Amino acid sequence: MNAKQLVGEKATEYIQDGMIVGLGTGSTAYWAIQKIGQLVKEGLKIKGVPTSKATEQLANELNIPLLDVSEVRSIDVTIDGADEFDPNKQLIKGGGGALLREKIVARISKVFICIADANKSSEFLGSYPLPVEVTPFAYQITAYQLEQLGCKPTLRMKDDKPYITDNQNYIIDCKFERIDNPSELTVLLNQIPGVVENGLFANIATKIICNTEDGGIEVIE
Ligand code: 5RP
Repeated sequence: MNAKQLVGEKATEYIQDGMIVGLGTGSTAYWAIQKIGQLVKEGLKIKGVPTSKATEQLANELNIPLLDVSEVRSIDVTIDGADEFDPNKQLIKGGGGALLREKIVARISKVFICIADANKSSEFLGSYPLPVEVTPFAYQITAYQLEQLGCKPTLRMKDDKPYITDNQNYIIDCKFERIDNPSELTVLLNQIPGVVENGLFANIATKIICNTEDGGIEVIE
């Protein structure tokens, strides 16, 4: 079993009958969703809330009953991946472009379980360029203002065109040297008018489940 499958399946042990479950996005969340699909087939009664169109499609293929996020005010547990995490469980997310929906779902989740490869662990955030979702309108001004915060901004591209999110926005990947205070930076980023949301998940994760070198699992509480 690969590391992503290992941690993804482990996270599903926190799901119980009757729960509303936030379904993350990405290649690690994929394995958790596959396992949830299997458990639902075996009789588990849950309702899922997808964090992207891709996850919605996958969950539908697996016959996982879904709720639209507009129908819920609180989620029992969300399982989602990350691009980087630090020892304080602060995260960078959005490598897969789903950060806005992921953060909306995460913010109303009582428990947020992050599942990640151990090689995404860093002493300080910043090795991974921070994804920031921005409006297409005047994105050049937004990129300039992001640069003023001390990063190198790059507009994310796909097939020679700007990458478009599920919410019809752009993503600017911001390479900071080192992010010392994710909460403070979140406020600064979101004060820029063209910024819709940023990929810093500060003080959101309840636990991180990652693999260990010897093929085991570590749960960081
Ligand atoms: C998508 C995300 C993903 O959770 C993150 O990119 C990790 O993805 P993967 O599990 O494929 O490495 O934030 O927006």
